[in-house]
Amino acid sequence: MAKDQPSAKSQAVLQRHVVFVGLMGAGKSAIGRRVAARIDARFRDSDVEIEKAAGMRIADIFTIHGEAEFRSGERRVIARLLGEPPMVLATGGGAYMDPETREVLSRHATTVWMRAELDVLVKRCAKRSHRPLLKTGDPRTILAGLMATRDPVYAQADVTIDSREEPHEIAVRSIVETLRDRGDLIP
Ligand code: S3P
Repeated sequence: MAKDQPSAKSQAVLQRHVVFVGLMGAGKSAIGRRVAARIDARFRDSDVEIEKAAGMRIADIFTIHGEAEFRSGERRVIARLLGEPPMVLATGGGAYMDPETREVLSRHATTVWMRAELDVLVKRCAKRSHRPLLKTGDPRTILAGLMATRDPVYAQADVTIDSREEPHEIAVRSIVETLRDRGDLIP
């Protein structure tokens, strides 16, 4: 069985999609993947699904087709994934900015905003160089600008979790507890 598939011994049942939103470096995939493993749910990453559908890396989609084309692919991929049985989904940082995607998510998912301080985002993003938006200038300045415009929108998510420099386990536990309290995860 594939690593990200639920195992037969799973007891907890996810009632609704759980979708991670937030800026680049906030830990959406790292925490989302661990939450999924903890509750034996499927995990998907919208960036990975876009790359699979396009047959190329995100950086190349931006270079060859442009950001607008990437955004429409992102919207389509997320809508398709939400048509599947409940899963844990990590989205790219810009996905939740799309009004259509936000509307679909509000109907079909519990959204979790991974909120992080600028210093944390800068430090984490510096570890990898694959993000096209951070290559157009100084990453700190770009991330600060994105925080200013996007944070008020991310704040519309159902759940906010502070993503700190601490063991993943702390955020994972808090999210799983919250999902149980909301009735999104039974038992
Ligand atoms: C983007 C974030 C990236 C990726 C693309 C654009 C954004 O995903 O979707 O480079 O607009 O914030 P991560 O947030 O997973 O890095």
